[in-house]
Amino acid sequence: PDEPLVLGIETSCDETGVGIVRGHTLLADAVASSVEEHARFGGVVPEVASRAHLDAMVPTIERACETAGIALNDVDAIAVTSGPGLAGALLVGVASAKALALGLGKPLYGVNHLAAHVAVDQLEHGALPEPCLAMLVSGGHSSLLEVADVTQGVEPMGSTLDDAAGEAFDKVARLLGLPFPGGPHIDRAARSGNSFAIDFPRGLTSKRDLERHRFDFSFSGLKTAVARWVEAQQRDGVAIDVADVAASFQEAVCDVLTRKAVDAARHRGIEDILIGGGVAANSRLRVLAEERASAHGIRVRVPRPGLCTDNGAMVAALGSELVARGRAPSALDLPADSSQP
Ligand code: KG4
Ligand code: ZN
Repeated sequence: PDEPLVLGIETSCDETGVGIVRGHTLLADAVASSVEEHARFGGVVPEVASRAHLDAMVPTIERACETAGIALNDVDAIAVTSGPGLAGALLVGVASAKALALGLGKPLYGVNHLAAHVAVDQLEHGALPEPCLAMLVSGGHSSLLEVADVTQGVEPMGSTLDDAAGEAFDKVARLLGLPFPGGPHIDRAARSGNSFAIDFPRGLTSKRDLERHRFDFSFSGLKTAVARWVEAQQRDGVAIDVADVAASFQEAVCDVLTRKAVDAARHRGIEDILIGGGVAANSRLRVLAEERASAHGIRVRVPRPGLCTDNGAMVAALGSELVARGRAPSALDLPADSSQP
């Protein structure tokens, strides 16, 4: 009970998340998603997301407090994602957090969305290993980050040059007639498929590409290759084996992600890899990462799927760490910074 009670708010994309933690203990993780409102567009529509956050904010805060069995007044600090993300969506969270901090007379902590994806793991596996190599893979980001001290931010080692990994899953799912968001559907379809059926390209893995982009990713060529393959089959009147395409595509993505993550960790002499973001829920990614990392004595930590996708608990987790390590709170004019690194 000596540890601070922190409420975290996340609104960078399409989930309105409110989490409450005490130290490393998760007390509540309420999430309202507008994903269904975006489904018919095949992607997140910023204006729709902002409006949905406005509608969901107060009820989600109330739900979180109820689950945690606390009154708002009990909270010791408010943390909020200040960026990166969709500008209008971030603004709703930042304005709400400021109102709470001001109204309750409690400190406000603006946090980086990517660092929060890393910090969330302490709610599941305890104190973060630092330094660690974080691989964040979601619909919006695909990055390799070196994390020396999560409260001081994250250092990018590489990222995608085009599509994010989750975006590639979503686009390929669409090509295969699977619903949005496509990642979980591809994961499921792939289970009965042969991952060696089709040899799809591994972006930025040629010797020449590795010289300049050793820790970067590229998934748009892979997506195009899948589209061409599907078109060619249709032209020839051959029925598409969705499971084989899904498995082969998934293998190509996971192969590159895990190869580069392990390479980055070894390059920096880091012994722990942490995977976060929605794609971390992928079953093949988890198995392959574990297999390849352990071959080099590297440990892999992946929070449970519910903590990998965007949520308020991750923001509260990082906020709690900022308080615990005595970092200074943010000023009440904290800006929402959509292009924060
Ligand atoms: O972190 P997240 O909820 O939101 C952001 O994009 O920030 O990630 C969502 C992404 C979507 O692209 C979704 O298709 C992907 O994560 N995803 C998966 C799986 N579950 C979710 N991708 C592959 N395999 C999965 N099991
Ligand atoms: Zn995210």
